[in-house]
Amino acid sequence: MNETIGLIGIGVMGSNIALNFSDNNIPVHVFNRSEDKINLLINKDSKGNITGTTDIQNFVNNLPKPRKILMLIPSGKPTLDMAKKLIEHLEPNDILIDGGNAYYLDSNELGEICSRKEIEFVGMGVSGGEEGARKGPALMIGSSNPINNELKNSLSSIAAIFNNKPSIGFYKGHGTGHFIKMLHNGIEYAEMQIITEAFHILKKANFNNEQISNFFKEFTKENRSSYLIEITSNIMLKKNESGYIIDQIRSEASHKGTGKLTVETSLNYGFPLPSIYEAFNARVESNFQNLWNEKLEEKEIDIDIESLSNTIYFARLATMAQGLLFIEHISSIENLEIDLKEVLQNWSAGCIIRSDLLKELGDLNLSNALTSSEFVHNTLLENLESIKKVIKTCVDGSVSIPVITSSYNWFVGTTNSFNPSSLIQAQRDYFGAHQVQLNNSDEFIHLDWD
Ligand code: 6PG
Repeated sequence: MNETIGLIGIGVMGSNIALNFSDNNIPVHVFNRSEDKINLLINKDSKGNITGTTDIQNFVNNLPKPRKILMLIPSGKPTLDMAKKLIEHLEPNDILIDGGNAYYLDSNELGEICSRKEIEFVGMGVSGGEEGARKGPALMIGSSNPINNELKNSLSSIAAIFNNKPSIGFYKGHGTGHFIKMLHNGIEYAEMQIITEAFHILKKANFNNEQISNFFKEFTKENRSSYLIEITSNIMLKKNESGYIIDQIRSEASHKGTGKLTVETSLNYGFPLPSIYEAFNARVESNFQNLWNEKLEEKEIDIDIESLSNTIYFARLATMAQGLLFIEHISSIENLEIDLKEVLQNWSAGCIIRSDLLKELGDLNLSNALTSSEFVHNTLLENLESIKKVIKTCVDGSVSIPVITSSYNWFVGTTNSFNPSSLIQAQRDYFGAHQVQLNNSDEFIHLDWD
């Protein structure tokens, strides 16, 4: 058998994936510059399937052919540099897998470089954090050729399972797996921010941490829960000697860039993802909380719990719809043939955005475009009055809820029979002769405004 996986990168994700392979009796051979780190990992490996070396040539020589090498190192330059170094030692038909949070265009580029040497490149998005890596992540796989069977079996055995199938999505193109992972992260940012806005509302409504935890726990009963909602419920209860941890953490959010890349990519394609823009902005803005000398007067608000629950559902669905529509759009213009059903299966277990909602969407008949699905439109419509009520309460109570509001604006803006952008056209033509299109023609004309 030629199952051995070569692994480069034994940080949090790499070590846990290595142990996961080992648990499934798949040998892992590790390259790392530090012998101590290799030994630390080997000591954690109760099954004895992990070996390692500090020499890259030995590493490559020790792997059975065709080699299957998984890189789990920081994306960008470190990955590119390592890949280029490795490629010098590899032979045709070897397989190089990038499992980092790579920018999908970098994966396309790396794929090209590998193809020139007849090396198979696989861009693999991995989701699920530390626990997922250890017990079963979701894997989003992009390749230009069908993936090697042995590798497929090995990856299937470490992935999370949903509906008796591994949470693995196969996508056409070296960068497409990482594109799907990037979108996953954009949606992750929005869902995290929606939950955070609900937390803000509940704090303003004077709920204590235990009550907030219970509020989120209730979602499970209604089949409206998600991994992020569950962990939030747990986070609320965590205490140390000084009290609740959540009340001791600074209100300044950071990021490693995948949300920003989602925003940039959608802007480059001219496709709207407003809930994700606002979620990214909220993280950035949280670092600018001292702009003014005076703070607004604190007001307690009175929140209707059922409306808040519906609002969270509305905003999560609107965000998910934006993300899925973007995937449909890219798939069509880049000819990627991405099957939304496959994406929904892929995201239903193991990954950070796994949720009841994804399972619900996965059960729909999505043979046509997402917007033709009555479920999405009707569910947003059913929860519209609730979100309006919550927004009104927040306006009165001076609570900032950017993602909830933008999700509402997105739905109302795209379903309203009147759109006022005719005025933008007119203004541009008035001051800059940028031309307008009239309703009855495709022609661009400059009007005489004098
Ligand atoms: C996952 C996560 C994971 C991680 C990223 C994004 O799916 O397992 O998305 O990839 O959380 O590092 O984190 P930032 O919030 O730092 O961008």
